Amino acid sequence: MIRKCLFPAAGYGTRFLPATKAMPKEMLPIVNKPLIQYAVEEARDAGLQQMAIVTGRGKRALEDHFDISFELEHQIRGTDKERFLAGTRELIDTCSFSYTRQVEMKGLGHAILSGRSLIGDEPFAVVLADDLCLNLEGDGVLAQMLKLYAKYRCSIVAIQEVPREQTQKYGVIAGELIHEGLYRVSNMVEKPRPEDAPSNLAIIGRYILTPDIFDLIADTEPGKGGEIQITDALMKQARNGCVLAYKFKGRRFDCGGAEGYVAATNFCFEHLHQHTL
Ligand code: G1P
Repeated sequence: MIRKCLFPAAGYGTRFLPATKAMPKEMLPIVNKPLIQYAVEEARDAGLQQMAIVTGRGKRALEDHFDISFELEHQIRGTDKERFLAGTRELIDTCSFSYTRQVEMKGLGHAILSGRSLIGDEPFAVVLADDLCLNLEGDGVLAQMLKLYAKYRCSIVAIQEVPREQTQKYGVIAGELIHEGLYRVSNMVEKPRPEDAPSNLAIIGRYILTPDIFDLIADTEPGKGGEIQITDALMKQARNGCVLAYKFKGRRFDCGGAEGYVAATNFCFEHLHQHTL
């Protein structure tokens, strides 16, 4: 059983400056809810209750968000504003939150390794909050992936088809189709040029990882951009055993940049938020 979800949230959010100069990018709101809360809700909806957040300098707001604000609750008690906080309060009451810091920015692989003490020796999920994934028709992406994990018991990455010219923004996989929408990974490259990309199947920020990934990351040399890449560690896992790539059901918005952020805002305003505004 998977119980824990890791949220790497130490990045600087440079694509969103100046908004992210003094505020974590994970606190950017889509309508009236910060990205990190969508991410935690997706994990909670998948049945995970232990949230492990990898933060860094200047990220205190994340911890404050998942803490009770007694003054604020007192202030709005008995008013019609209580409903705005109800969802956040429910997460605080039903999930546990633990934090650690990534002290050096050495890539996503390194961020995940920084979370090792919070995860321990068990399989876990990873959610990158700036990839907002929504499925109005049914299970969220993480819930879909957990069902697969229950069957296959190996690491799984979420993938989506992207236009060829965008492969340089993603980890890209190649693999053998073993079931509808499910590939067994044979190759995996971090941010390849379109002409070098093994396919147009791009990794999206949702992972299920088995705990042997930690030693593999610890043994991984810096790769693309001089950073320790989770993609490279996963490729080792794929070589030694099995890694699956799953074309998920739902929509994904890249909220690390303005275009995806605005699209997500419009989508959520139209489809999700009418009852909380
Ligand atoms: C990271 C991963 C990349 C993945 C992407 C998804 O890149 O390294 O493999 O495709 O997340 O959003 P980043 O966007 O952090 O540069």
